[in-house]
Amino acid sequence: MNNTDSPLLATYDLKKDYNSPAGRIGILKGVQLILKAGEMIFIVGRSGSGKSTLLHLLGGLDQPTAGKILFEGEDLTSMGEKALAKIRNRRFGFVFQLYHLLPELTLYENVLLPSMISGKPDEKWAKEILRRVKLLSRQDHYPSELSGGEQQRAAIARALVNRPSVVLCDEPTGNLDRETAESILSLIHDLNQREGQAFVIVTHDEGLAWRYSNVLRLVDGVLLREDRGQVPTVEQVQ
Ligand SMILES: Nc1ncnc2c1ncn2[C@@H]1O[C@H](COP(=O)(O)OP(=O)(O)OP(=O)(O)O)[C@@H](O)[C@H]1O
Ligand SMILES: [Mg+2]
Repeated sequence: MNNTDSPLLATYDLKKDYNSPAGRIGILKGVQLILKAGEMIFIVGRSGSGKSTLLHLLGGLDQPTAGKILFEGEDLTSMGEKALAKIRNRRFGFVFQLYHLLPELTLYENVLLPSMISGKPDEKWAKEILRRVKLLSRQDHYPSELSGGEQQRAAIARALVNRPSVVLCDEPTGNLDRETAESILSLIHDLNQREGQAFVIVTHDEGLAWRYSNVLRLVDGVLLREDRGQVPTVEQVQ
């Protein structure tokens, strides 16, 4: 069990440079982040500020140039690929803007897949999460038969099937209309409250992010906590 006071996921002075034809560019220049178990945080920032880069690093999908990423106190950056793959599969869930569902599998098969990869397929739980995201009646449908919002709900169900400790979402509402985007975030919030998974949500949509507070802004390669005094009220963003 996690000690609720110790961070689930933390970065220390995280840096990421990319080589470009124009030379080396620093994208992340010392990001400090602390995520506690069960916490839901939003990361906002302009296009190109490094939000996806940061999320990929947090999920062990890419290596930083410098700094540490501690998951339950273990440094992901010094772990072997096998150990890292195990953590990615069992402890992290991923949700991306373009859903990334496998087109040749039904919704049910898509949702079950990560648990099959981990060697612990849990058919009952896969159906239960499909029910929670209100897609149980569509379980035998293929992704192409679903709307964008439905596909995103299925992608969220898939991210939860292994009961991860943290779900990393990159623009989960980026392709959806306002109303659907609101319902997706409200679903995520509900899952966060009921299941206690931590969520890190990268979004362009600050109006939506502010409703749930805990907003961090990536500016010039560092992460700043927004002054709560400046947080607009729900009425102001509506
Ligand atoms: N593999 C790469 N090689 C070189 N540069 C890269 C690479 N990946 C990202 N970048 C650069 O790093 C910067 C940050 O990219 P990133 O995708 O993290 O931004 P973002 O904040 O997610 O933007 P958006 O809101 O548009 O999704 C961009 O300038 C991008 O061009
Ligand atoms: Mg991005």
